[in-house]
Amino acid sequence: MNRFLARAGVASRRAADALIASGSVRVNGELPPPSGVFVDPDKDTVTVDGRPVKAVTRHRYVVINKPLGVITTARDEEARTTVLDVVGDEGQAGHRLFPVGRLDADTSGLLLLTDDGELAFRLTHPRYKVAKEYIATVIGNPTPTDLETLRTGVKLEEGTTAPAEVETLAVTPGSRDSSLAELRIVIREGRHRQVRRMVHGIGHKVHSLRRIGFGPLKIGRLKVGGWRLLGDAEVAALRRAVGIDVKGGGPPLATAGLAEPDPGAPPPDQK
Ligand code: URA
Repeated sequence: MNRFLARAGVASRRAADALIASGSVRVNGELPPPSGVFVDPDKDTVTVDGRPVKAVTRHRYVVINKPLGVITTARDEEARTTVLDVVGDEGQAGHRLFPVGRLDADTSGLLLLTDDGELAFRLTHPRYKVAKEYIATVIGNPTPTDLETLRTGVKLEEGTTAPAEVETLAVTPGSRDSSLAELRIVIREGRHRQVRRMVHGIGHKVHSLRRIGFGPLKIGRLKVGGWRLLGDAEVAALRRAVGIDVKGGGPPLATAGLAEPDPGAPPPDQK
């Protein structure tokens, strides 16, 4: 309930709790119980001092630069630091944000958080082949043939990877085990630990991995551990990337043969 009032701009969540405790707030004409009540903006009428509160359905889109060691989940039973801790209460602003896809704990970089279930569902659905751009620092110096294998497809246990963009950005010389190659790798799938397993498939090991792009979004100058709200143009670009708001109309999910997202369910586990 305090989340509903905060999102509607009535008060911060803490101040909303005080309002509720003072008896100013009614839900469907009734005083809510002290334990609180879940408000459904589509069904419930909420008033503060007799004045109706209009529900706000505007979604929130936050991009973070995930630090190493932070877990991509909304809630962690072992109380480890999660991607929601990175944005804190201020970043969440009363919205029920969740991560769009995931990054491993040992990967840093760009991760989108939102409460827009339809957009998140599409961005992580393999049908839309959304680009995920990484900088992988690899131990050793992959040969041109290795790089070509990364591009055309690496055989993994569950099948061969789809074509990827791969370029070498820098090589730090050294012995076979001490030289490092910095690769830019763009994949359009989201298999578990995909980049690490692709690099392993060509006989090398990832030393460090960071994501710098997701669809049309770029990490830019966002510092590690920082977050920012997306601008309207960025949200529009994301929507276009997955066929929403495209002129001529992207197909509705049902006719595209996709299940409607369950707003309560987490999005598919994709990178
Ligand atoms: N590939 C990986 O191996 N890890 C990630 O976190 C993302 C892509």
